[in-house]
Amino acid sequence: MQFKQSIATQLSTITGHPETQLIEMIERPKNKDFGQFSIAVYKLMQGGMQKKRKPDEAKSVNVEENARAEEGGKRKTADEFCKELAEKFQSSPTISSTTPIGPYLNFHVKKPVFIQRVVDEVFGQKNLYGTFKSHGQGKTVVIDFSSPNIAKPFHSGHLKSTILGNFVKRIHDALGYKTIAINYLGDWGKQYGLLAVGFNTYGSHDELDKDSIKHLYDVYVKISQEAKHNPTIDQEANDYIKRMEDVERLLTTKNLLSTQDDGTCTIDLSEYNLGTPQIKRMDETSVYLLRDIAAATQRRQLYNFDQMFYVVGMSQQNHFQRLFKILELTQNREGNGGEKWAENLEHVGFGMIRGVSTRHGTAVFLKDILDTAKQRMLDIMMGNEEKYRDIVNSGPSRQAKKADNSRFVDNLSLDDDQMASSDEYNEVGLYGKEAAEKIADIVGISALVIHDFMRDRYKDYTFDWKKTIDAHGHNGVYLQYAHARLSSIEEKAGVTLNPKANIKALKEQAAFDLAYQISLYPEIVLQAYKDFQPCVIVNYLFNLSQSISHAHRTLRVKGMSPGVAEARLLLFWCARVTLGNGLNLLGLTPLEKM
Ligand code: ARG
Repeated sequence: MQFKQSIATQLSTITGHPETQLIEMIERPKNKDFGQFSIAVYKLMQGGMQKKRKPDEAKSVNVEENARAEEGGKRKTADEFCKELAEKFQSSPTISSTTPIGPYLNFHVKKPVFIQRVVDEVFGQKNLYGTFKSHGQGKTVVIDFSSPNIAKPFHSGHLKSTILGNFVKRIHDALGYKTIAINYLGDWGKQYGLLAVGFNTYGSHDELDKDSIKHLYDVYVKISQEAKHNPTIDQEANDYIKRMEDVERLLTTKNLLSTQDDGTCTIDLSEYNLGTPQIKRMDETSVYLLRDIAAATQRRQLYNFDQMFYVVGMSQQNHFQRLFKILELTQNREGNGGEKWAENLEHVGFGMIRGVSTRHGTAVFLKDILDTAKQRMLDIMMGNEEKYRDIVNSGPSRQAKKADNSRFVDNLSLDDDQMASSDEYNEVGLYGKEAAEKIADIVGISALVIHDFMRDRYKDYTFDWKKTIDAHGHNGVYLQYAHARLSSIEEKAGVTLNPKANIKALKEQAAFDLAYQISLYPEIVLQAYKDFQPCVIVNYLFNLSQSISHAHRTLRVKGMSPGVAEARLLLFWCARVTLGNGLNLLGLTPLEKM
């Protein structure tokens, strides 16, 4: 951002600190009355004191001056230094004034210049606003997520993995990485063997095409009933998995296995506090671990990834610690030649969700959840008769194509080109009830996802349908509503979007506040990337929507003089693009009407 640059340039001349270091140190004040940018002067002084220890490195007179002041015993306090800097800092084409508050130096921008720059930046970048494509250029990341067990029901942990993993993928896309999404169906446990045997008896390819997960689940339920009375089924299932297992060999050649007196094989990880997992006796845990060792090795060969992420609940923390440790140990034994890629593996864990249930009871089917979300939304929409009629009668609606359940699920799988979706407002020409259903579908999904993304990903929580869709709450419905309302402003503006609109017409505080919120977005993306926390984006989008609704109350577009209307429209357009980019980053389709 150019504003940070201009602050840093002048501060660098005054203090002698390098510009790049200063840019890193510039923050956004918590209280908006304090200005738009600030710098913690006490941190600057710590830098100055380091320089004192190596005087030959002190490049500027002023740093030396500081040092001398300290040596003379009258050490300057941070507050004093801050005041001094405020006096020296001159207003510039971008900064109007500075105020020292305690040890913080705060900067106030020239508002029209600021708004102009924000608008130019958003207009210039459009759906790329808030992306940093050069950051990860040339690097490949693999993201293992969703990953249900094919022979067991999908549960809320898989739901969470699906939406969080999708976010982890998208934020890497935004940062220019090549991303490879893997839905790991590699739980070749006993259940898989059973399922394979069961499919021979009960399986139907037609049913499989219709609803594969559901069908496999039904087959599994039947065969496991039968296995209770018929021991040969168990035997067949065991044989089936045996044939698939030879990973073990890899570990033997690396000398990591040790044979116990009773004939079982173990890997001793006790010195790392990770216990002594058994490998030889094929119980579920050992099979799971072995399969993951094999899968990671194979993926590395296939994709030569720079990093790999496993988006799986914290309940499997131990599993991943063991997995990474074993891979690290095998790689250490490969001698100096081998690459130590185990250190580039990361478990992106999350807390538990309680209380997600559907008509199938505890066995959760993704489609059921999405259908439930949609139905609840539809009920609410029909409750407001006037609005519902408006949607149903509004004729062809410009809705995003990727709008139904099945497409949402497609969207989550191996789709390389997800970022494109933000400019994919395809004219699908939906009429009437169908349009209403699509809208309900998208809002339902948004409600679900935002409810989940609202808190720190490590936190356990209880799912609450009511809060999810409450019309007065801070939730996904609210965010979609804010977006749809901006679209409607554009539609009814009476003027067309003009990137050269006269920004000086935006005199109101609400306009500036909105521009300021918009300007924060790119930094927010980077902050969310640091620890893969979608809540950082969600909280920001709530703040942004609040500024939008405030501006909406004060700044009419329709019916204003063309100059004013154009400037306001341009600002609202920037707000919509930013909100839309944020929703897209979370994996949601921004709505133009609801
Ligand atoms: N299917 C596993 C489960 O439901 C999660 C798989 C996660 N991915 C992996 N590579 N282990 O518990």
